[in-house]
Amino acid sequence: MKRAILALSLIVLSSAMIFAGGNTEGVVLNQDKPVVFFNRQPSDPVSGEIDMSAMTWNDSTFYVGFDAAGGGAVQGKLVVDYLAAADPAVIDRNGDGVIGYVLCIGDVGHNDSKARTQGVREALGTWDGSTDPGVAKEGSAIVGGTEMKVVELDSRAMTGTDGTTWNANAATDAMGVWATSLGDQIDLVISNNDGMAMGCLQASNYPAGVPAFGYDANADAIEAIGTGMLAGTVSQNVDAQATATLQVLRNLLDGLTGDEAVTVGITEADANGNKISADMMYLPETRALLAQNTGVTAANWTQYQAGQRDQGIKQLPDSVPTKNVILTIYNSGDNFLSSSYIPALQYYAPLLNINLTIVQGDGQNESSCLDRFMNLSNFDAYAINMVRTNSAEDYFQRIESGV
Ligand code: BGC
Repeated sequence: MKRAILALSLIVLSSAMIFAGGNTEGVVLNQDKPVVFFNRQPSDPVSGEIDMSAMTWNDSTFYVGFDAAGGGAVQGKLVVDYLAAADPAVIDRNGDGVIGYVLCIGDVGHNDSKARTQGVREALGTWDGSTDPGVAKEGSAIVGGTEMKVVELDSRAMTGTDGTTWNANAATDAMGVWATSLGDQIDLVISNNDGMAMGCLQASNYPAGVPAFGYDANADAIEAIGTGMLAGTVSQNVDAQATATLQVLRNLLDGLTGDEAVTVGITEADANGNKISADMMYLPETRALLAQNTGVTAANWTQYQAGQRDQGIKQLPDSVPTKNVILTIYNSGDNFLSSSYIPALQYYAPLLNINLTIVQGDGQNESSCLDRFMNLSNFDAYAINMVRTNSAEDYFQRIESGV
């Protein structure tokens, strides 16, 4: 019976196409087109568990990001190394023998944010089994050769009044309150990203000289390291991620399958000699292709100054057909995506003969992205950065309906 229905539907479908004068040759159905999620990994916002039903939606679905857990550890080490080299008499501002820090949390429902909170707390011994704000125990660290207590004085999710996460203005406001209420107990300011770290530094009562740490290596943060305003940040290698997002789509559109989809032009040179210069790692169990993190401090900041692009990626010849890709950005106001990721995409897309249409949301409502994610049959592939990490199904429905 099922077979009879299937056969009948195929006849109806093909006659409809013939009737419409359609030529089905070479037509790819939307549900068979490549999909790459990037920067916001499909996952459960509470547990962080990867949404494998999203990641296996079709054979051409992948995630491109960076090693989030490794990055949390890099940020933690940056802070620990800083303390190890510090003079206790200077860094412990009130001389109470305790290093107090405040922590800006980006988004409690985002894996990158969770990994950084965990990495920093583990390194400082304050990890108490949860990435939630306020959950930390007393830790310790070596400061200039002496072991000292470490206390997380406060931590908050930096959500703006409009509901947007990773909000730099919320960090400025929180820092203002912290500086007043906690005074010279604050010896360190640590943030899940650069936008919020720079936001803290903007507070009019920021305690001068207190070291602040961010994450992302945005251009303004790198310059702030150069001038001594910021103590450190972590590069998640935006160039490698942006190129990889586009290269995976390019590979799938060129008909590569299996391992080749995630290695050609990435860890192995393609036919034109293109290859990402930085290390990339592929995790088959989560279909995730990840860039590596590096710590940035006063010792090496000049290597991370703006405008340095991957020389391993060169212009593809005209014989490689141009493909149309629609790409969503969850929040047009996100510092990292707008100041680092989008410029990198705009640099590499033309080199890979990809015609990129970028649509941007408001960071609060999925509909702000979904309503602009349209005319989907006109695109060869989709790159998705969701507002909420558990919204993949909404995008798939759109793609299937072809609107
Ligand atoms: C970045 C944050 C950014 C977030 C957006 C993270 O990987 O570090 O700065 O706000 O992605 O999803």
